[in-house]
Amino acid sequence: DDFSGTGVWRYADALPLEEGVTTQEGDTPLYRVPRLETDIGVEALRIKHEGMNPTGSFKDRGMTVGVAVARELGVDRLACASTGNTSAALAAYGSRGGMETLVLLPAGKVAAGKIAQASLHGARILEVDGNFDRCLDIVQELAARGEVYLLNSLNPFRLEGQKTIGLEILEGFRDDYGTWPDRIVLPVGNAGNTSALYKAFRELVQAGELAPEEVPKLTGVQAEGAAPMVEAVENGADEVRRWESVETKATAIRIGNPVNAPKALPGIRETGGTAIAVSDEEITTAQRDLAEEGIGVEPASAASVAGLRKLREQGVVSSDERVACLTTGHLLKDPDAAAAAGRDPEPVPADTDGVLEVLHE
Ligand code: F0G
Repeated sequence: DDFSGTGVWRYADALPLEEGVTTQEGDTPLYRVPRLETDIGVEALRIKHEGMNPTGSFKDRGMTVGVAVARELGVDRLACASTGNTSAALAAYGSRGGMETLVLLPAGKVAAGKIAQASLHGARILEVDGNFDRCLDIVQELAARGEVYLLNSLNPFRLEGQKTIGLEILEGFRDDYGTWPDRIVLPVGNAGNTSALYKAFRELVQAGELAPEEVPKLTGVQAEGAAPMVEAVENGADEVRRWESVETKATAIRIGNPVNAPKALPGIRETGGTAIAVSDEEITTAQRDLAEEGIGVEPASAASVAGLRKLREQGVVSSDERVACLTTGHLLKDPDAAAAAGRDPEPVPADTDGVLEVLHE
């Protein structure tokens, strides 16, 4: 394709295909945030901003691989359940690959930007009177009955593409600090990224490129109202209990049944990581903190920074750690949340003196 060898496809050796259905995803910024670094109190803090992907979230890294596999298989209808971002990415990549796309969304619980994307990229959108987990149950059944090809993170080819987040973070830290990060903090919904990063690091260890003790501590963050993974980690449980009722303003991670938990829980444990829940208020504060550094993220993304701050305050994270926080989606995904967290516009008269009067108030 036109972008082979760039972005995600720079890592083709670690992927199941040589090239994908691509719009040049990956190669996202690893921002310095000096004020936030000092404020939170760690040796180094970098923000891996996945909102800078073509459709504004990390999902593009998975879709460039997953949709290409679907094309190889010759399927004609692609589908997903989604809290929004997966549907936007599936719609865009499915269209680019020339395939039909179907998305099941929880009615009233998907941010405006994401629905707009899925709609314009031509997905058929079904609004389900139920939460995300129910949507995923249904779309899994549709796939089992041969109606659709499933492109949620249960699809292993998606997670192959998402491994490249971990590879880019490691390379970025090595280039800047001459060493790997001690910890990677990430928001958790279905725990796809947690699983994908763990797989990427295991493969590097197997290849002899990373010592086992050098694997970054995978640290998951959930919203208090949707925290089944945190519950399992805190209880030392081997299985995650499905939460039937979930609520958070971070709608992207409003998920009660993290389907990749069997792959993600060992990742958190084996790397010496942990999991923590944060309130919606803590998420909004972190969203503002990032915005003050010029980085615009959607609420779910800010959960990583909120979680790091809390773990640092609790002494779980120490001051000598070098940390990467993953921010998973762009601010414009959820314009309503951004406007609510930001400052209100002030009405002024349409003349300079009137404007000056307000400015000097
Ligand atoms: N952050 C954002 C912005 C997301 O959209 C998602 C998942 C996550 C974090 C959680 O990632 O599942 O790998 O733990 N969004 C899915 C969707 C569920 O449908 O867009 P995970």
